[in-house]
Amino acid sequence: MAATDLLVSAAQVPLPTSRPRRLRRTAPLRRLVRETHLEPGQLVLPLFVRSGVELRVPVGSMPGVAQTSVDEMLRDASAAAEAGVGGVILFGIPDEKDDVGSGAWDEHGSVQQGVRALKREFPELVVITDVCMCEYTSHGHCGVLVGDTVDNDATLPLLARAAVSHAAAGADIVAPSDMMDGRVGAIRAALDGAGYGDTAILSYAAKYASAFYGPFREAAESTPQVGDRRGYQMDPANSDEALREVALDLDEGADAIMVKPAGPYLDIVRRVKDATGYPVAAYQVSGEYAMMRAAVERGWLDGERAMMESLIGIRRAGADCILTYFATTAAQVLRRRGWGGE
Ligand code: PBG
Repeated sequence: MAATDLLVSAAQVPLPTSRPRRLRRTAPLRRLVRETHLEPGQLVLPLFVRSGVELRVPVGSMPGVAQTSVDEMLRDASAAAEAGVGGVILFGIPDEKDDVGSGAWDEHGSVQQGVRALKREFPELVVITDVCMCEYTSHGHCGVLVGDTVDNDATLPLLARAAVSHAAAGADIVAPSDMMDGRVGAIRAALDGAGYGDTAILSYAAKYASAFYGPFREAAESTPQVGDRRGYQMDPANSDEALREVALDLDEGADAIMVKPAGPYLDIVRRVKDATGYPVAAYQVSGEYAMMRAAVERGWLDGERAMMESLIGIRRAGADCILTYFATTAAQVLRRRGWGGE
């Protein structure tokens, strides 16, 4: 075919007047029109602490994540702080569990000791504590068990007690993840009553009964011994209900709210942000992390790009901050080359 034939046929095709690709041609152009930004200070690193010294027990299903003693935890926190990570959230693994989870408010517990050490060593890191009973109960449920069901109301004072012990140790934010009805109000009243009016509450308001928590339960040793959590965590099929959960928690005094998991629930992140205008955190949970790491190990994904894309996606959906096991690594990437870098 002659070149003139090509010109003739091209002339018959209407040309686009609008060409979005004009603003995508170079990195500076893309930077100029980028809508969403991700900064190290918006990331929160989860840490699993237990008693002992120089202890680091890797979590099999979460490469790069370990249960650590407080001294080792401080190393991880130091790397996070150095990279500019905004905060950490602590989960405790007690030496002994009982049916009411009394380790949760032990003033010498790993979390309480960990908080004190963190506030001393890294005052620039925001310290959040997870408030829940499941790591501390022998049956692994998030509250007191009566028969086969969790007794919501009997659990409230225990959660409040745990939250006060975290505040007393110096936590900036307590984050109840148990999904008991009325726990934000109970915790707020207890904190105020004990003189911790400045301690904030980040409530896991829309927390779904998710298969993606599997690896976490290995890390926190909190798999329920009988039954599951569907009686108190949300049905993955529901979204209006998430708004009702969020409204209740805000009414009871939550300062910020969390949606969890993140990736499969980005619509919920967006709805919650639009409906409330409150600070929204999203938790990229253990299963989301494990999936990506597994694919990367097999050479099926470019790990750095997949990590950064998953995080910017969560921000774009409306999350102000992200809890993620990638926090330190992602912050280092951001320091080196910004989001996407190109
Ligand atoms: C405890 C709690 C869970 C997670 C955070 N807090 C597990 C659960 O509800 O079973 C999950 C975090 C993750 O999977 O990374 N109630």
